[in-house]
Amino acid sequence: MRNRTLSFPPLRSACLAAALAALVLLALPAPSPRAVAAEGPGKGDHRVIQLPNPTLKGKMTLEEAMSKRASIRDFRQRALTQEEIGQILWSAGGQTRPWGGRTVPSAGALYPLEIDIATPEGVFRYLPERHQLQPRATGNLLPKLAAAALNQHFVAQAPAVVVISAVYERTKRRYGSRAERYVHMEAGHAAQNIHLEAVSLGLGSVAVGAFNDSEVHRVLALRADEKPLYLIPVGEPAQRP
Ligand SMILES: Cc1cc2nc3c(=O)[nH]c(=O)nc-3n(C[C@H](O)[C@H](O)[C@H](O)COP(=O)(O)O)c2cc1C
Repeated sequence: MRNRTLSFPPLRSACLAAALAALVLLALPAPSPRAVAAEGPGKGDHRVIQLPNPTLKGKMTLEEAMSKRASIRDFRQRALTQEEIGQILWSAGGQTRPWGGRTVPSAGALYPLEIDIATPEGVFRYLPERHQLQPRATGNLLPKLAAAALNQHFVAQAPAVVVISAVYERTKRRYGSRAERYVHMEAGHAAQNIHLEAVSLGLGSVAVGAFNDSEVHRVLALRADEKPLYLIPVGEPAQRP
């Protein structure tokens, strides 16, 4: 009889149980996106992380940032904050227009670039439409990335490395043989924004083009159609330039 009641509760009891469950759920505080972001992703945690809104008022003029930009290869061992990560990624391709326009121009607005950021915690894909991070891998892959970058040791010592990859097909479908040139121009736009944003935040960066393509592809577990173009270590400079 008891079992039967448990297996097939009368309709009224079932409704009561559902209502109670709903009340309990409503009473529980929902984890805010910021809270999830602040905790950081746990092992195997693939929840999307909401980044803090980018600030549009920097501490430096554009001209000052340009004059101060220089390659930085020696970084302090300080993790980047969520605000810094958000600001850097937004500069690389954050959405700024309701129709999908971004901080960087794109031939035919086809947006062939994908931006990842590798930190000692893992690898995260930037989702420009909602200014979010999608965790893709956990653990510190920076030493492997440095090995793939022909053992340029500073790649492993930076607190974060931004990786710009391209899906050429997105642009090729419309522009054919011009696509390759367009995609590389766009990677340059995104990279320069990152370098200048880094300076504006009091950080430093360096362009890294010397790496083994297939090794970087393998370490980051990129999709077959994603080609890594650019690594940009970013962090607080050990010395002010
Ligand atoms: C496309 C490109 C690829 C580069 N690749 C590397 C690299 O693999 N390793 C590195 O240490 N610097 C690299 N650099 C940085 C240059 O060495 C650096 O920009 C140059 O020496 C001028 O110095 P500055 O950036 O301080 O003005 C690269 C720069 C560019 C534009």
